Amino acid sequence: MAPRKLAAGNWKMNGTLASLAEIDQLLADHPRPGCDVLICPPATLVHALAGRVEGKIAVGGQDCHAKTSGAHTGDIAAAQLRDAGASHVILGHSERRTDHGETDADVAAKSVAAYEAGLVAVICVGETEAQRDAGETLDVISTQLAGSIPEGATAANTVIAYEPVWAIGTGRTPTSEQIAEVHALIRDRLAARFADGADFALLYGGSVKPGNAAEIFAIPHVNGALVGGASLRAADFGPIISALS
Ligand code: G3P
Repeated sequence: MAPRKLAAGNWKMNGTLASLAEIDQLLADHPRPGCDVLICPPATLVHALAGRVEGKIAVGGQDCHAKTSGAHTGDIAAAQLRDAGASHVILGHSERRTDHGETDADVAAKSVAAYEAGLVAVICVGETEAQRDAGETLDVISTQLAGSIPEGATAANTVIAYEPVWAIGTGRTPTSEQIAEVHALIRDRLAARFADGADFALLYGGSVKPGNAAEIFAIPHVNGALVGGASLRAADFGPIISALS
């Protein structure tokens, strides 16, 4: 099985019910996309979006708790996301790692919770600018992969997203060679650890736009993108889907 192509949108803390009109437009413009499409809106919109798209595209959360229930004010269990209609959940995004102090071990525990709830975990890794400048990128990514991906990961329940922290929301992207180098490393690490490591979908994320999507999707072992800002509007996300299809 070859990795599936996936165009994923991470709306972060953006959007209200009115914003779902963008998805109506996206579906109208791309009724039969040639790749899987996933939208991860804020938790407040998961249920409404899932009901609206009727399975035509996948819907995901942006985080979940490692536990199944209990006294965790403000948190969401993986099973609750599933109950609301989600099929995926983003875990270990750099904004969670930075803003909420999430460690690799936290991400692994959350991934296990996601699997138990029947969700696909989209596990994020990426180096900071200081780490890249210090020549530490491959070591950082290797460490994050080893610590964040739990036993039990398979190509069916896990997607890996490489998001260099310095490329997120900055308009800056690595060179194609730099993306290729990291994606090859991720593929090698997965193949060394998991029987179906060659089949995991690997996404690139960080300032993906309609203008650079085709070039990024041509890079070996790039099976799609995790898109932030450019996923908010159908006029931007649509061309990215087309470039991947
Ligand atoms: O998770 C996607 C994200 O971090 C990339 O954001 O706005 O640079 O596409 P953006």
